[in-house]
Amino acid sequence: MPGIFFNVNGKDVSEENVDPELTLAYYLRNKLGLRGTKLGCEEGVCGSCTVVLGTWDDEENKAVYRAVNACLVPLFHVHQTFVITVEGVGSREKIHPIQDRMARGHALQCGFCSPGFVMSAYALLRNHPDPSIDQINAAIRANLCRCTGYRPILEALYSFSPESGGCCGGNKNGGGCCKDKSSSSEDEGYDDKLLSFNDFPKYDPTQEIIFPPSLRTYVDSEDQSILEGSRIELTLPKNLTQFKQSREGKNVISSGLITRFLTSRHPKEFTQKWITTRYVKEFNEVKVDASSVKIGSALNIQKFADTLSCHLPKEVGCKVAKFIQNFSSPQIANFATWSGAIVSAAKSSISVSDVLILLNVLDAKLSLLTESGELIEVEIEKFVEQKLFETGTIVYAKFSKSDRGKLFCLKLGETSEQDSTNFNFAALVGNKSSRIFVGLGGQPKRLTGLESYVNKEKSYNLDDFYRASNLEKNHHSSTALTRFASFLKNGNIEENQGKVNYLQYFKPTTNESAGRPIANYFNERAITGEALYVNDIPAHNAVHLGFVLSTLPNAEVLNVDFSEALKLEGVAGYFGVSDVPGNNIPGLQIANMNFPDDTTIFADKKVEAVGQVIGVIAANDVPLARRAAKLVKVEYKELKSLVDFEEARDAESYLGDVQHYGKDEKTVNESFEKSSKVLEGEVSIGGQEHYYLETQSSLVIPGEGDELVVHCATQGTSFTQLMVAEAMKIPAHKVIVKTKRLGGGFGGKVNNASWIACMCAVVARKLNRPVYGFLSRADDLAITGKRHGVYAKYKVGIDSEGKIEGIHYQAWLNGGWSKDHSEGVTMVMGILVDGVYKMGNLRFDGYPVKTNSNSNTALRGYGNPQSTLVNEGVMRRIAREVNKDVEEVKKLNFALQGDHRFMGGKIHNDALGECWEYCTNWSEFEKRKRKIEEFNRSSELVKRGIAMSSVRFGLPHPGPTGHGIASLLINLDGSVQLSIGGTEMGQGLNQKMLQVCSEALKRPIESITIVDTSTDKITNAPETGGSQNADTNGLAVLACCEKILSRLQPIIDKNDGEWEKSIREAYASYVPLQCTEYGVVERTKFGVQETESPYNTTGSCAVEIEVDILTGYNRVIRVDMVMDVGESLNPAIDIGQIEGAFMQGYGLVTCEKITFNKATGQLEQNTAGKYKIPKASDVPKDFRVKLLGINKANGAQVYSSKGIGEPPLMMSCGAVHSAIMYCVDDWRKHNGIEEFVDTISPLSADKIRELCSKK
Ligand SMILES: Cc1cc2nc3c(=O)[nH]c(=O)nc-3n(C[C@H](O)[C@H](O)[C@H](O)COP(=O)(O)OP(=O)(O)OC[C@H]3O[C@@H](n4cnc5c(N)ncnc54)[C@H](O)[C@@H]3O)c2cc1C
Ligand code: FES
Ligand code: FES
Repeated sequence: MPGIFFNVNGKDVSEENVDPELTLAYYLRNKLGLRGTKLGCEEGVCGSCTVVLGTWDDEENKAVYRAVNACLVPLFHVHQTFVITVEGVGSREKIHPIQDRMARGHALQCGFCSPGFVMSAYALLRNHPDPSIDQINAAIRANLCRCTGYRPILEALYSFSPESGGCCGGNKNGGGCCKDKSSSSEDEGYDDKLLSFNDFPKYDPTQEIIFPPSLRTYVDSEDQSILEGSRIELTLPKNLTQFKQSREGKNVISSGLITRFLTSRHPKEFTQKWITTRYVKEFNEVKVDASSVKIGSALNIQKFADTLSCHLPKEVGCKVAKFIQNFSSPQIANFATWSGAIVSAAKSSISVSDVLILLNVLDAKLSLLTESGELIEVEIEKFVEQKLFETGTIVYAKFSKSDRGKLFCLKLGETSEQDSTNFNFAALVGNKSSRIFVGLGGQPKRLTGLESYVNKEKSYNLDDFYRASNLEKNHHSSTALTRFASFLKNGNIEENQGKVNYLQYFKPTTNESAGRPIANYFNERAITGEALYVNDIPAHNAVHLGFVLSTLPNAEVLNVDFSEALKLEGVAGYFGVSDVPGNNIPGLQIANMNFPDDTTIFADKKVEAVGQVIGVIAANDVPLARRAAKLVKVEYKELKSLVDFEEARDAESYLGDVQHYGKDEKTVNESFEKSSKVLEGEVSIGGQEHYYLETQSSLVIPGEGDELVVHCATQGTSFTQLMVAEAMKIPAHKVIVKTKRLGGGFGGKVNNASWIACMCAVVARKLNRPVYGFLSRADDLAITGKRHGVYAKYKVGIDSEGKIEGIHYQAWLNGGWSKDHSEGVTMVMGILVDGVYKMGNLRFDGYPVKTNSNSNTALRGYGNPQSTLVNEGVMRRIAREVNKDVEEVKKLNFALQGDHRFMGGKIHNDALGECWEYCTNWSEFEKRKRKIEEFNRSSELVKRGIAMSSVRFGLPHPGPTGHGIASLLINLDGSVQLSIGGTEMGQGLNQKMLQVCSEALKRPIESITIVDTSTDKITNAPETGGSQNADTNGLAVLACCEKILSRLQPIIDKNDGEWEKSIREAYASYVPLQCTEYGVVERTKFGVQETESPYNTTGSCAVEIEVDILTGYNRVIRVDMVMDVGESLNPAIDIGQIEGAFMQGYGLVTCEKITFNKATGQLEQNTAGKYKIPKASDVPKDFRVKLLGINKANGAQVYSSKGIGEPPLMMSCGAVHSAIMYCVDDWRKHNGIEEFVDTISPLSADKIRELCSKK
């Protein structure tokens, strides 16, 4: 070859002149048009790009399959490999059992992550057709999903395991049954079967696509080949002799994952020569003899672990396998090499490598090819210390097979042991001698003092361990030494994640369509990779944008020099503020917005935050555009900045007016005077990143006569339309904005999505070419806003029982550099701050603070989670003061049906009291609390906590956004086409609307299609958000159906219900077969004021959590969520929303940390790997959801249903936070620390450790 040969989904492919920098994902998507492989991070973190590589194992005479991240695998790596993508697994016509069970099992919402999950599970089933639960948990642990909360994904995949048979629906086909535990009289009348996996076709491994014979018979040339890229020349030798001859002056790489990744960030044109070990026979060998195991350096980390686990004594081998199971990503371990891992860690002083510590503790010897061509054997420690990697190439590592004792390994990450490694520790303990190492960065340190201590002494006292090891005292070392002591005493104690148990109860319906748990119509399309997201829509002759971002927090922009960027071949131009034909701040011009937005499209002479967009480079492909953008030089004059939130508060730097709601100060103070106690507190709540899996994306296609078609992942098509029109100085009717679906939105794709669309529009008009604006995860994190962090103070007056008589809140919200939604979020936090409580005389002062950091925006809950968390602190504070349980205090202060909110509105159609009572009983709250108290009394380092929280969410919202619009067309063949103003972003809106339409028209759901949300069908639609869209759009759909039927019904009746015949007749007699209608609640008709919500979605949840005090890690043991959603339009969708919201709320108060650099205001979690969202392993071990179905319909609702999207997040974050604080408070109490800790969020592992430390 001078090229490579491989097979994709059964088709042979030969490629010549492969650029060594080209990734497999880019190739699959852009060259082969296989768009099912999604790009969610391009850093190997999210798993959306997972594909399967199959290779033939000659020794075993079988194919071996492994899941890898196509975003990182260089294409040259797949020579002679069988590449399987989601399209190769199955299609809608011939769906694979994994896809089928996930699609019908409601295991997806937006669907963006789904192909990645399918591929991880597919690799597992191809190697293990009858997987264990642990294998399933391990296979998907590096696939992220932001929507579902993982439970339905796990449930669908567990159904492949003989250990469980999935949820048996009570049939006990796999042994025990989760339903045994709690079926009670409380559950009578409820259905507990969203579906039963017993009804699915059996998985038959013989039906799988076979390993391509062409690859087995392929005879590779024995000559080495050279691949020439634009910057890199790569030599691919086939044997050691060729490698030796060609190595000089070249950079040795193995899989090239990390090398290519680092180079891809290098903007400049340069030339480098690489040589890869990947196809060198000797580097790929495993040799085992009586005394040793030799593992070739080109083998991947998983193969390395499997080999050791197979050939080393059991006490060591199994532990190696277990340790590598904690490697942060199986996809990376399946592909990156062990030699690359140790060399890249050895070259860095900060990387902590799990592979390097294993080689050290197992006393590996390396066979090294020296500069002069000799093969020598060196000890691993010497290899690193003497930097032999600078001149030598590792051929293999040799491990002794002799029995040298038992192995103990531990790794610690920021959030769990399966996170990227911050610290590790390994010990091989024999009868007479031991080897002990600690990994702190670069070369692991040998703890010889501890070795001799362990060899001699038999007392495992922590202080002695510290003295002997000489380790600095911190939580890492104390966790390691404590666990090591326990290992010495008790041996390895294996803890597996185990099976997640789940229960979902809902009230069955007698309706034909509305109310049934029907799988989303688009699930099959998404799970097979057929569903198109914006970046998947093909466009001929398009350019792609690279973003030039500010590197200073506050500065004048003196000059932008893009000349270097323009020199790159394929770059079409640089565009900035001077290219905007219309208004560069379009958000100021929209008449119907409550709070106008002063965000610029491009920075205009001034930047106000790191990450603000200054301009864009347009180029023929994405990598080129991104590289060229990095070559743009910006000259600044730095100005004084206010990046620190506290300083900005003190400086009274605000983004708008200070907002006051409720009573005046005098009245509130008077109630304090009457109160028996007045308590004060301070609360600090961090922000949250949306982490939608699909990053911001737009595609703008210029048309004739100034027309523009904008495909945009936006939650507000009409909003984006107006923004683009304003920026382009054209009337809105020239702009059509289309949104098929979003890969998650969560509030983050309204304003930000529109600015990206505006940038694309500017370039599209200038170049007269289609323009894609697709943000890398790092750019998305840098540019876009997050949830507002809040600092709040409260002063609360209570009576002797703990009942609130008056409260004064002051809340400062970190708005960032521009207004965006900051004033709106401040308002919502203020006007709804009373939440579920009656608080007497209440006053709220809200301050939207301007800082020179990311401009914060809407995120699920929009100010409500912040007020929930403040109130959790207030309730805990009161409970402490009056010496009562927090739950008792909460209940004492509840506002119930018929009460008034502090802003005046009456509470209508509300089931808070019922939800609370039901949840208390269903969860056996009191009984479990007593058990927890007992557990905690004897457990010092592991604490358990339990808490309940509730939510009230009034819907639909009063004001200008409280309406929906729908349009209905009936075609002559009788088929129905529906469109609505709301956008589908995973919340199941389109599916619910199909069910409403089907129910109202009495037509089968299959005869109705819901098309893209598009401004040429529906104009002036409010943005989708606020949990009310099934109400508002649903009312509009109902209005359309009523209108159409009012004309058609007489004809249908005449034709005995024959639909098609009636439609033809209606056509012939000029009866209109299309209409557009508004959906608005006529409040006065239902006895509700214009400013009131006609109903409330309410719920309560109980959360039990366990906290490991040493590490600060937590584990959710059990969750019971009870919600009143009226008569659900689709219980599967609503339960999915509840579970997904639970996990997002859990993330908000635990692992999702947002911090800004003190000097620059730059977001510190600025890569996918640094921002941690919950993973599948974080799912509650017992996850129960019940839709209470108390129908208090007052007629203002769509088939008596209630909105759901945001409310469960509030009770989740509240209960999780309080349950963790229960653990913290318990530890502090037992350690004599009296000081009260108010709400601090997130309670990340380091924060928990800080709170649970004896100063
Ligand atoms: C998302 C992600 C998660 C990760 N999680 C973990 C984790 O949990 N724990 C952990 O320990 N690590 C982790 N890593 C680090 C990972 O192990 C290394 O990045 C990877 O193994 C590098 O291997 P490679 O094949 O890509 O090396 P290459 O890019 O091929 O090479 C890396 C370096 O090694 C040199 N080199 C390669 N082969 C040889 C050879 N035969 N002889 C001499 N020098 C050689 C190269 O010159 C280069 O300097 C993670 C990495 C990523 C991207
Ligand atoms: S892991 Fe490849 S795109 Fe995220
Ligand atoms: S369904 Fe998983 S990210 Fe949306």
